[in-house]
Amino acid sequence: MLLEWYDRHARVMPWRTSPADRKAGVMPDPYRVWLSEVMLQQTTVAAVKDYFRRFTERWPTVVDLANATDADVMAEWAGLGYYARARNLLKCARAVVADHGGRFPDTRESLLSLPGIGPYTAGAISSIAFNRSEVVVDGNVERVMSRLYNVHTPLPAAKPELTQLALGLTPKDRAGDYAQAVMDLGATICTPKSPACGICPWRDPCQARIEGTAAELPKKAPKQPKPVRFGVAYVARKPDGTFLLETRPDKGLLGGMLGWPGSDWNDAPMAAPPIEAAWQTLNVEALHTFTHFHLRLSIEIAHVPAEAEPENGVFMTLDPSALPTVMRKVYDLAVGAFGTD
Ligand code: ADE
Repeated sequence: MLLEWYDRHARVMPWRTSPADRKAGVMPDPYRVWLSEVMLQQTTVAAVKDYFRRFTERWPTVVDLANATDADVMAEWAGLGYYARARNLLKCARAVVADHGGRFPDTRESLLSLPGIGPYTAGAISSIAFNRSEVVVDGNVERVMSRLYNVHTPLPAAKPELTQLALGLTPKDRAGDYAQAVMDLGATICTPKSPACGICPWRDPCQARIEGTAAELPKKAPKQPKPVRFGVAYVARKPDGTFLLETRPDKGLLGGMLGWPGSDWNDAPMAAPPIEAAWQTLNVEALHTFTHFHLRLSIEIAHVPAEAEPENGVFMTLDPSALPTVMRKVYDLAVGAFGTD
């Protein structure tokens, strides 16, 4: 029922093979499946597509990616967020080359031993790329299962129960198509608001449709409000147009990414300028929301002389697209101010 629907309505995605190809025995490339699944964690399909294309054009195989420099990969990832994923991506590519001869292992267990691959990604790769009968549970699948079985336990407590229910439905053959079919169903029909129950391939067995509860499921435990943190970012520019930037420490938020020198981010940041100059405070802040807090970043800008030498960081020609989003927001506000000097 669901697979018939998928054969007709599967979304076209650059890491998928068509169901027709699949039936003819054509399997998707595990490297592309892995890359897409890592990118799709916490990020939408629409946001991922361009990144996926750029990564696969620049690094067509896992061996190419393993040979890339950390800085190039971090710069290419800039804007996708959750930067630990990018650091683990590179570690994983290097482990696949060093320990597995450049070929992804095909079982859930061996995939789980690789950096950055947790239960979700291991299940997704082994089912989608290797057609193993593994359970794959993302937010879409949770929503579909909670409705199909009318589960009212709030998330995240409901997760084990929803996983068991999804496992019970996972077929022995076409497991990868099946996993993606449930995701597509959740993304296109069994949507969070106003689900299109009238055209759903599972409308008959769906308990929530029968009970009229679909729109209120899945239940979610109330979220904690996010605190606000403050910080200062320093944007120094030389007459040749170079900017002072530093690579953030590997550990911690935005680890390994390029950023502006500045204070820690907390209730009352203490800031020391990275270089002596006539600093000028912008009258706008950069606002950015992370997983656990909102950030309000005040911005200091300065013109510094060509011979200025910072204690930390380097003056460089900046490609703004290599900055993580919060640093990019600072840049966008600061260049406006420099421009009208
Ligand atoms: N979200 C995460 N992985 C996906 C996939 N393979 N297909 C559709 N949506 C997804």
